[in-house]
Amino acid sequence: MIVAYGEWMIFLGSVLFLVSSGQGQECTMIIKNMEYSCSGRNLTHIPNSLPFTVMSLDFSFNFLSSLHKCAFPVLVSLQVLDLTRCHIKHIENDTFYNVKNLTTLILTGNPITYFGPGCLNSLHNLQRLVLVDVGLSSLQLQMNNLTKLQELRVGTNNIQSMSLPPFMSTFKDFSLLDLHANNISIIKTDDTVVLREIGRNMTLILSRNQLLHIEPGAFKDIYLKEFHIQSSFASLNAQKECLEALTGLSVDKLFIGSYRMQRKVKVSNGSYLDGLCSINFNEIYFVQKEFSDSEMHLFRCMINATKIILKRGYIKSLEYIPFHRLKELYLGPTSLSAVPLISHIPSLEKLVVRNNMPMTFNGISDLPLLQFVDLSGNFLILKDCCSQFFQRTPNIHYMNFSQNTEIGIADKPFSGLDLLELLDLHHTKLVLVFYFGFLHGLKNLKYLDISYTSITFTRQMIFQNLNNLTVLKMAGNSFHGDALSYLLQNLTCLEVLDLSHCGIEEISRRSFIGTQKIRYLYLSQNKLMILDFLALPNLKQLTSLYVDKNSITSIPLHVLQKLPTNLSEFDLSSNPIDCFCFQTDFIWWIIHNQNILKQPENIFCKTTDFRTTDFDIDSCVHKKRLTIVLSVCFVTVVVLLSFLVYRFQFYLQYCCILLRGYRSPGQQECSYDAFVIFSSYDEVWVMNELMENLENSVPPIQLCLHMRDFQAGKSIASNIIDEGIMGSRKIIVVVSQHFIDSAWCRFEFELAQSRFMMERSANIIIIILEDVEERKTKKVFGLHKHLKKNTYLKWSRDPLSNMGFWIRLRKAILDH
Ligand SMILES: *[C@@H]1O[C@H](CO)[C@@H](O)[C@H](O)[C@H]1NC(C)=O
Ligand SMILES: *[C@@H]1O[C@H](CO)[C@@H](O)[C@H](O)[C@H]1NC(C)=O
Ligand SMILES: *[C@@H]1O[C@H](CO)[C@@H](O)[C@H](O)[C@H]1NC(C)=O
Ligand SMILES: *[C@@H]1O[C@H](CO)[C@@H](O)[C@H](O)[C@H]1NC(C)=O
Ligand SMILES: *[C@@H]1O[C@H](CO)[C@@H](O)[C@H](O)[C@H]1NC(C)=O
Ligand SMILES: *[C@@H]1O[C@H](CO)[C@@H](O)[C@H](O)[C@H]1NC(C)=O
Ligand SMILES: *[C@@H]1O[C@H](CO)[C@@H](O)[C@H](O)[C@H]1NC(C)=O
Ligand SMILES: *[C@@H]1O[C@H](CO)[C@@H](O)[C@H](O)[C@H]1NC(C)=O
Ligand SMILES: *[C@@H]1O[C@H](CO)[C@@H](O)[C@H](O)[C@H]1NC(C)=O
Ligand SMILES: *[C@@H]1O[C@H](CO)[C@@H](O)[C@H](O)[C@H]1NC(C)=O
Ligand SMILES: *[C@@H]1O[C@H](CO)[C@@H](O)[C@H](O)[C@H]1NC(C)=O
Ligand SMILES: *[C@@H]1O[C@H](CO)[C@@H](O)[C@H](O)[C@H]1NC(C)=O
Repeated sequence: MIVAYGEWMIFLGSVLFLVSSGQGQECTMIIKNMEYSCSGRNLTHIPNSLPFTVMSLDFSFNFLSSLHKCAFPVLVSLQVLDLTRCHIKHIENDTFYNVKNLTTLILTGNPITYFGPGCLNSLHNLQRLVLVDVGLSSLQLQMNNLTKLQELRVGTNNIQSMSLPPFMSTFKDFSLLDLHANNISIIKTDDTVVLREIGRNMTLILSRNQLLHIEPGAFKDIYLKEFHIQSSFASLNAQKECLEALTGLSVDKLFIGSYRMQRKVKVSNGSYLDGLCSINFNEIYFVQKEFSDSEMHLFRCMINATKIILKRGYIKSLEYIPFHRLKELYLGPTSLSAVPLISHIPSLEKLVVRNNMPMTFNGISDLPLLQFVDLSGNFLILKDCCSQFFQRTPNIHYMNFSQNTEIGIADKPFSGLDLLELLDLHHTKLVLVFYFGFLHGLKNLKYLDISYTSITFTRQMIFQNLNNLTVLKMAGNSFHGDALSYLLQNLTCLEVLDLSHCGIEEISRRSFIGTQKIRYLYLSQNKLMILDFLALPNLKQLTSLYVDKNSITSIPLHVLQKLPTNLSEFDLSSNPIDCFCFQTDFIWWIIHNQNILKQPENIFCKTTDFRTTDFDIDSCVHKKRLTIVLSVCFVTVVVLLSFLVYRFQFYLQYCCILLRGYRSPGQQECSYDAFVIFSSYDEVWVMNELMENLENSVPPIQLCLHMRDFQAGKSIASNIIDEGIMGSRKIIVVVSQHFIDSAWCRFEFELAQSRFMMERSANIIIIILEDVEERKTKKVFGLHKHLKKNTYLKWSRDPLSNMGFWIRLRKAILDH
C-alpha cells in the first residue's frame, strides 16, 4: 500500500510538473513555427512558449474571461486568431496591441458584454471579422480604421437593422456581409444607402431573419453577386410582398426557398413566387418545401435564368416553358414521378435529374446544344435503350445512366449519338439483346463504365472499333472461359482499366497484347495467384496497379525484376503472403519498396498474423548458413564413417561375430582342430608336410586350409572369421619371410589374437618356418611379444629333429 501510495504521489507530481512547465506542449503543432492549435485545453491564458513566428493560432474552447493588453504575448506574425467560445465577456481598448497584424479574428460564441471602443481599430490589416453569436445588437461597430476589411460575419445576433456605418462605403475590398439568423424585420431605403454606395458585386446573406416589410425600391439599382434569402420571411404573404419590393435588384446567384430542416408547407395561392419576376438574376438555387393543390407556376419567373437548381420541388411538369437562356438544369430530389419531357430549349447544355425515388423516363428531344445528360440514381427501367429516348439531341457527349434498375440495350442502341465520349452505366443491370458490338459506332467514346452491370463477357467482340477508349471500367462482372484474352485486343488507347471483383483466376499473356498504354490497372478482389503477366513488355507504361484482396502468395524474382519502371502505386494488401525463408527475395522486395506499396501495413503473412514488413530476413540468412554448415558436417561425417567402415570392415564383421559369439559361447561348435595361417608362398610346405603329417596320423587332425575348406561364394573375410578362426579350436601360424610381408596373413593373425585374447587361452601355435629378423617380426602386431612370452615350434630340415617337432605339434593341437 505504501509503495502504491508513493507511486501515486510521483505520478501526481509528474502530472503537475508537466502542466506547470510544458506550456508549449499544451498546444498541438500543425505546421512547425507557423500553425498551432490549443483548442479545448481548458487554458486560462495564451502560452508564452509559442514561437513568435506563429501565423495561425486556434485557441477555441478555452477560458479567457477578459481580454486586455497583456492577454497576448508579442506575436507580430500572427494573422489568424480563433477565439471561438472562450467565455470572453470583456474586451479592453488595447487588447490587440501585441497582435496588430491579424487578418482574421474569430470571436464566435463569446458572451461579450463590453467592447472597448477602440479595440478593433488597432487591427489595420484585418480582412475577416467573425462576430457570430456574440450578443451584438447593432452593426454600428467602431472600426473606421479597418479599411482592408473584406468579410463581416455577424450571424446569430440580435441585430434589427441592416444599415451599415457610413465609413464602410470607403472600404474598397468589402465584399461579404453575413447577417443570417438575426432579428431584421424591416428594410428601409435608408438602410441600403451604404450598400448602394459600395456598389460592388457583394454577397449579402439575410437568411433566417423575420422579414415583414421591405420598402419598395430599397434595392433598386443594387447589384449583388450572391443574395441569400432562404427562410428569410415571417410568412408566405410577407415573402410575396417583399419579393415584389425587390424591384430593380440585379443578382448573379439567388438562393431562395427553405432550409433543409424546415417542414413542408401547404400554400393556398400558387402564385406566391410571382415576386421573383421583379428581380434580375442569372442563377437560382431553390429549395422548395411549399406545395399546393392548385397549379403552381414555379418557373414562370425563371425564364430568363441561365442556371436552375431545384431541390424538393413540387413540380408537376416542365413543358412549354419558354426558357431562352437556360444552360444548366438540375432537378432533384423532386416529387416528379417521371423525368419531364424536356424539349425545345435551344440553349440547354446540361441536364441533371436525380431523384431518390423511382421514376420513369419517356425521353427528351430537340435540344440541339445538349451535351451533358445525367439521369443516374432514378431507379429507371428502360427497354430498347437508347436512341429512341434522345431525339434530335446530336451533341450529347456525356451520358450517365448509372445506379438505375435495368436497361435493355437493343440493336444499334446509340445511333444518332455519334459524339458520345462518356458513357456511365455502372450498377445498372444491363440486358443485352443484341450482344455483338453493342457499342458499335461510338468512335469518340473515351470513357466507359459498365461496372456491376451483370454482364458475362464472352469471346464475341463487344469492344469493336472503340479506338479512342481510354478509360474502361468493368468491375463486378464475369468472364466466360478465356474471354478476357480476346476482349481487349483492339483497345489501343486504353489507359485505365478496372477489372476488380470479376472472379478472375488467371490472366493470360495474350490479354494485354493490344493495350500497351495502360497506366492504371485495377484487379482488386479477384482470385489471382500468379502475376506473371506483369513481366510482359505490353505493360511498360503502368504506374498504378491494384491487386489487393487476391490469393497471391508470392511473386517470383524474375517478375519483380521486370516490373514496369514507372510503377509508383502497387497495392498488394490483403493477400496470403507466404513468409518462408525460401521466399526472402520477395519479402526483401516488399520491405524495401514500401514507398510504392499502398497500405504496406496491411500486407500480412498467411500463416501467422504478423506483417510481412516485420519479417526478420536476417534470421533466414542465419538459418541458411547454419543449414549449410550442418550439411557439410554431416556429409563429412558420413564420408569419414564410410571410409572407416570400408577400411575396417573385417574388424567390424569380426566384432559382430564376436558379439554374437559372446551371447552364446556354449553353442560355438568347432568343426576343425586347427586353422592354418600361412602365406601362399609356403603352400607347398603346408600341403606336403603339415597336412600330410597331421591329417594322416592317428587320430587324424582336421586342419582348416583356406584354399581347400573355405566355402565358395562367401567373402574371404567371413570365411576367415567363420570357418577359420571361429570354426577351429586352435590356430597354427606358419611364420616365414612371406608371412611377414603378406597383409592378409598379418590381418588373420591379428584377428586370431583378438579372438583368443578375449577367450583367455593361449591357443595360437607358432611355427617358425624360416628365420626372420627380429626387427621384421615387430612389423606384425603382437608377433614379437608373442614369441617372447610363449614357446614356439621351429621347423628344421633335419628329419630327426622333425620327429620331435611333429610330436610337440600334435600335442599342442590336441591339448585342451
Ligand atoms: C476541461 O474541463 C472539463 C470540466 O471542467 C473536463 O471535463 C475536461 O476533461 C477538461 N478538458 C481538458 C482537456 O482538460
Ligand atoms: C505584418 O504583415 C505584413 C504582411 O502581411 C508584413 O509585411 C509586416 O512586416 C508585418 N508586420 C509585422 C510587425 O510583423
Ligand atoms: C479607447 O480608445 C478610444 C479611441 O481609440 C478612446 O476614445 C477611449 O477613450 C478609450 N477608452 C478607454 C477606456 O481607454
Ligand atoms: C485609427 O487610424 C487613425 C489614422 O490612421 C489613427 O490616428 C488612430 O490612432 C487609429 N486608431 C487606433 C485605435 O489605432
Ligand atoms: C426582435 O425585434 C423585435 C422588435 O423589432 C422585438 O420586439 C423582439 O423582442 C426581438 N426579438 C429578439 C429575440 O430579440
Ligand atoms: C459584377 O459582376 C458581373 C459579372 O461577374 C459584371 O458583369 C459586373 O460588371 C460587375 N459589377 C460591378 C459593379 O463590379
Ligand atoms: C392568388 O393571388 C393573386 C393576387 O395576389 C390573385 O390574383 C389570384 O387570383 C390568386 N389565386 C388563387 C388561386 O387564389
Ligand atoms: C426576361 O427578360 C426580358 C428582357 O430581356 C424582360 O423583358 C422580361 O420581363 C424578363 N422576364 C422575367 C420573367 O424576368
Ligand atoms: C455518374 O453519376 C454517378 C452518380 O451520381 C456518379 O457517382 C458518377 O461519378 C457519375 N459518373 C461520371 C463519369 O461522372
Ligand atoms: C480488332 O480489329 C480487327 C480489324 O478491325 C478485327 O478484325 C478484329 O476482329 C478485332 N478484334 C476484336 C477482338 O475486336
Ligand atoms: C478517335 O480516333 C480517330 C482515329 O481512330 C481519330 O481520327 C479521332 O480524332 C479520335 N477522336 C477523338 C475525339 O479523339
Ligand atoms: C516513365 O515516366 C517518364 C516521365 O513521366 C516518361 O518520360 C517515361 O517515358 C516513362 N517510362 C515508361 C517506360 O513509360
